[in-house]
Amino acid sequence: MLLSKSTRLIRFQPISSLFLPRVQLPPSVFSPSSIQASIPPIVVPVPTRAYSSLHKDRKLEPVRDEFTKTSSSADLEKLAYGPDSHRNPENLSDAIALKTVKSLRVIADTFFQKRYIHRAVMLETVAAVPGMVAGLVRHLRSLRKMQHDGGWIHHLLLEAENERMHLLTWMKICEPKWYERLLVTAVQGIFYNAYFVAYLLFPKTAHRMVGYLEEEAIVSYTAFLSEIDNGNIKNGPAPKIAINYWNLSEDAKLRDVVLAVRADEAAHRDANHEFADRILNKVQDLRKPYETK
Ligand SMILES: [Fe+2]
Ligand SMILES: [Fe+2]
Repeated sequence: MLLSKSTRLIRFQPISSLFLPRVQLPPSVFSPSSIQASIPPIVVPVPTRAYSSLHKDRKLEPVRDEFTKTSSSADLEKLAYGPDSHRNPENLSDAIALKTVKSLRVIADTFFQKRYIHRAVMLETVAAVPGMVAGLVRHLRSLRKMQHDGGWIHHLLLEAENERMHLLTWMKICEPKWYERLLVTAVQGIFYNAYFVAYLLFPKTAHRMVGYLEEEAIVSYTAFLSEIDNGNIKNGPAPKIAINYWNLSEDAKLRDVVLAVRADEAAHRDANHEFADRILNKVQDLRKPYETK
């Protein structure tokens, strides 16, 4: 026998305890109490990046490069957003996407009319869904196919986060009524599932629809600006969360925030129309250049 009885570590028991081998550790070296005494508890803190939206010194990644540096009101006025940019439908699926969005617009107009802040809250609770759903579907596909996603997932999740930051900004100046919260819950339940199925079956149409949704968002935010300019909505101070997120100047006003949000929506519009085009033309790898229309 190579091991003496005293140094043998595992001794098998009779048949009654066959499935529970008893481990014998030399008490002077490996007793549980000595292990606890010698190894300090390991505590890995949650990195502050994980809750960066709550910290002044930790910035979330903006969707437009312009917001990586401080923007004045004059800078925000100059932001390109393509006021007349509209993608004409070129096939049946584009036409369906446009018709769907226009129908949703009629419902929103009827329900909210000129209550633009409340409309913005509702809009953002919906707008923050597609990026997350599309990111999830592409994440799962990347895992299944064991392939790189071509850069889509990060972009789509960034878009969802950006829309959620729009919502959190408006929540600083608006208190939705109970029936509006109920509506948000109901719409989310329907829209999340509908968009998930749509993205699995018709991802091109799903992105085109978001492109058109963003076109409508730009119309709504432009009307929001007009209401501020007309004096119907008070141009109060910008919420801190907005100043921090978009790198606005400390004395920024509500109007500056709306300009920043509208610029973000323009980025979403162009990105989603390009995504639809890339799927149509089979150039899905974002590392490959693509000439947008
Ligand atoms: Fe938004
Ligand atoms: Fe958007």
